[in-house]
Amino acid sequence: EKDRPFTAAIITLSDKGAAGEREDKSGPLIQEMLMKEGYDVIETLLLPDGEQPLKHQLMRLADQRQVNVIFTTGGTGFAERDVTPEATQAVCDRMAMGIADAIRQYSLSITGRAMLSRAVSGIRKKTLIVNLPGSPKAVKESLEYVLPHLGHGLGILR
Ligand code: MTE
Repeated sequence: EKDRPFTAAIITLSDKGAAGEREDKSGPLIQEMLMKEGYDVIETLLLPDGEQPLKHQLMRLADQRQVNVIFTTGGTGFAERDVTPEATQAVCDRMAMGIADAIRQYSLSITGRAMLSRAVSGIRKKTLIVNLPGSPKAVKESLEYVLPHLGHGLGILR
């Protein structure tokens, strides 16, 4: 049971992506990086920006599917429709800001613009939720730093 791979879900937040006006490159990149680390990616979703659809999917994935970890990408910046952090915080029982802090700290060594991400991380029931910024570059830089350390926490949660 404890040797089972961790399950993961990926949610891309993008108005243009959801409307079919822009190819989602960040979701597939997260999927590829997770699969290389042995995660079982059970769902990938592409949603428009906005709080309600994201909250609904986060609650379903945590409560019904009981996925071990959910990564979101996009919607963490300053645009009016960037509300991924608010939706995430609203559904979490406990915040785990060390992960978001670590991503920002490492990212700041690459670009000062990392300070513009309002990303959060937290726990709903037994599911960890981690916000990542939207660009593939930011996704790669964020995941390469935190992914090696998440397994220890996920093992304690399940
Ligand atoms: N983090 C890393 N590691 N690399 C980046 O290039 N870009 C930043 C930031 N975080 C960036 C990063 C920029 S330009 C913005 S606007 C914010 O993430 C928010 O991005 P989002 O609105 O796509 O979520």
